[in-house]
Amino acid sequence: MAILPIVEVPDPRLRLISEPVAEVTDELRDLIADMFDTMYDAPGIGLAAIQVGVPKRLIVMDLQENQDEDGKPIREPRVFINPEILDPAEEQSVYTEGCLSIPEQFADVERPARCRVRWLDENGAAHDELFEGLLATCIQHEMDHLQGIVFIDHLSRLKRDMILKKLNKARRAAA
Ligand code: NI
Repeated sequence: MAILPIVEVPDPRLRLISEPVAEVTDELRDLIADMFDTMYDAPGIGLAAIQVGVPKRLIVMDLQENQDEDGKPIREPRVFINPEILDPAEEQSVYTEGCLSIPEQFADVERPARCRVRWLDENGAAHDELFEGLLATCIQHEMDHLQGIVFIDHLSRLKRDMILKKLNKARRAAA
């Protein structure tokens, strides 16, 4: 178990198209455990393997939408191996997105409100489910990473440049 360094823009690795996972091995499960450690530590709700520098079609996610009686988020970890998006809804929804590879920056992104997702879990079992709400947004955001796309690519050039400028300013202030 380890917290891995997160790849941030403008690192060219974020532009790679990730390769399918050929086999669900113990080595892959170790990577999945490290990705969860990294995601919870950040903290974030989703992480694609390329964000820790591994160009494989693997995503971990935990929306942590529910809390226990002490107000602590209840963990509901999900693993997506070789995920595919099918039947995206025509209806769009807007969500204010962020990304661990573009730290502390947020913007509204419009995406299909619902989609069907097909994937393998960490035991190699196949799933096929209809996603909506934050789950649909999050899986589409993470799927973009597997195609070398980040959320600011969905924005106008003006908005994208503004975010990158703010990010650079924050980095300079932290240096
Ligand atoms: Ni992201």
